[in-house]
Amino acid sequence: MKIGFLHSLIRKDEKLLLDEFRRRKDVEIVMIDDRQLTFNLGKDAFDLDVVLERCINHSRALHAMRLFESAGIRCVNTSHVATVCGDKLLTSIALKEKKVPQPEVRIAFTEASALEAIEDMGYPAVLKPAVGSWGRLLSKVNDHDAAEAILEHKTVLGTYHHSIFYIQKYIEKKGRDIRSFVVGDKCIAAIYRTSEHWITNTARGGIASNCPVTADIGDISVKAAKAVGGGIVAMDIFETETGLLVNEVNYTMEFKNSIAPTGVDIPKYIVDYVIKIGRDGTNG
Ligand SMILES: Nc1ncnc2c1ncn2[C@@H]1O[C@H](COP(=O)(O)OP(=O)(O)O)[C@@H](O)[C@H]1O
Ligand SMILES: [Mg+2]
Repeated sequence: MKIGFLHSLIRKDEKLLLDEFRRRKDVEIVMIDDRQLTFNLGKDAFDLDVVLERCINHSRALHAMRLFESAGIRCVNTSHVATVCGDKLLTSIALKEKKVPQPEVRIAFTEASALEAIEDMGYPAVLKPAVGSWGRLLSKVNDHDAAEAILEHKTVLGTYHHSIFYIQKYIEKKGRDIRSFVVGDKCIAAIYRTSEHWITNTARGGIASNCPVTADIGDISVKAAKAVGGGIVAMDIFETETGLLVNEVNYTMEFKNSIAPTGVDIPKYIVDYVIKIGRDGTNG
């Protein structure tokens, strides 16, 4: 089987995946660097059974996968999953349509209407770019003055990514949230991310520790994964007194900090899944 390994830089996560692929019999890895890749629309004939996407840049990942799919090559994840997960608004819509609980979300298109939506929802609120990751450019807005200032800054200084106001209710999560990992139809592991800061991303200093996969965590994770189109995804989950809420779903999941705390061989599950898709020809 020939597996295309679509990547930018080889980070620790990619290295772990490549090590695991190399342990498998009958698997040939074809390295595809997104900095050198070109497509010839309608004329491409790739000799590959499946492509595993591990890009750093969302739009490169998304467009490359769409092009591979159009050339008849299956991708993990699908371009559909990348489209939905790469945009927090599309994720929220998908979760809502499948009745997966999430924090309250408001959307607005102008400064004035965004301010009105925030005031109506109540403080604190969180403003985020719909497309973005690693906890960057998130604002927790505690009062009217801060809301006005952030909205003005986004409008005057922001790129067009900031012109759709994605507003979420701030969830008091007592110093931690949960990151769960789904491969196919199984929640394989979860960690707590603990931080003194309200932003708990490990890229921002959050500390990973094992979180037992309870029935509730497993259920909501698999439901959320299905809602965005399935595959290999990682959820951010908030614990509240009235139950779990899914904050977002990530489609090029990073797992290097989660293997030791959970004791779960995450690369093994990912590689098994990719080989299965390459062999069976259907994305689960
Ligand atoms: N509505 C919210 N309430 C409380 N904390 C939040 C909220 N939204 C985000 N956070 C915190 O910020 C982190 C990053 O936000 P997230 O929406 O996951 O964006 P990113 O794509 O950058 O990871 C979350 O893991 C969480 O710790
Ligand atoms: Mg996140």
